Amino acid sequence: MKDLLAKKALEFVRDGYVIGLGSGSTAKAFIEALGRLASEAGLKLTLVATSVDSELKAAEVGLGHMLRPLWLVDSIDLAVDGADEVAKDRVFLKGRGGALVREKIVDYRASTLLILAEATKLVPAVPARNPVPIEVVPYAWRHVARDVERKFGGVCRLRISDSGRLGPHITDNGNYIIDWTPPGPLGPEIEDALKGIPGVVDTGIFAKRRDAVVLLADERGVYAL
Ligand code: A5P
Repeated sequence: MKDLLAKKALEFVRDGYVIGLGSGSTAKAFIEALGRLASEAGLKLTLVATSVDSELKAAEVGLGHMLRPLWLVDSIDLAVDGADEVAKDRVFLKGRGGALVREKIVDYRASTLLILAEATKLVPAVPARNPVPIEVVPYAWRHVARDVERKFGGVCRLRISDSGRLGPHITDNGNYIIDWTPPGPLGPEIEDALKGIPGVVDTGIFAKRRDAVVLLADERGVYAL
């Protein structure tokens, strides 16, 4: 299904575009498909990755020479990303893979944001099944966790590395992630409320791209939300 979504996403690509590469397994399927298209069609693209992982993938499929740091591009025509949960009102939950900060920087700046997701990720409101990832400056982590629990309820857990390395998960920005399980679904205002806590870098609540194009996939094929 990820390959079907990736193939459909190629229809949004134009020669000369600056494209934001999302992170995660769905974004990687898109990067692979883009690698094939770019070599077959001789496309000239500029690519901005939202994680080191996506950068490595782009290099692996022959797109390394098109990668640029964000500060060297003036604008982003298209960003293609996945999501952990997609609400019908186009609020997204992201960050299970820990790439939420760079994803939000790129996704929010793109002229067109394309979100690719298996239809099982569609939920009435976020978060439904996953905790909300909150990237924090390591210095502040316990105080942020306590502030979040006191202000909004629920439970915060420091994300521990699952890579074999001992200790907390470290993001591409050198920060920690707190996974917050709130007492129930959240309104979109929580995005700014969480960011107002000193020490919070950003969160996996993406509530400000209601104009995003969302493609869903199930056994019937790919369709727009
Ligand atoms: C990365 O931190 C995430 O925001 C991903 O975009 C999200 O977890 C979707 O990943 P998959 O495509 O692997 O489900």
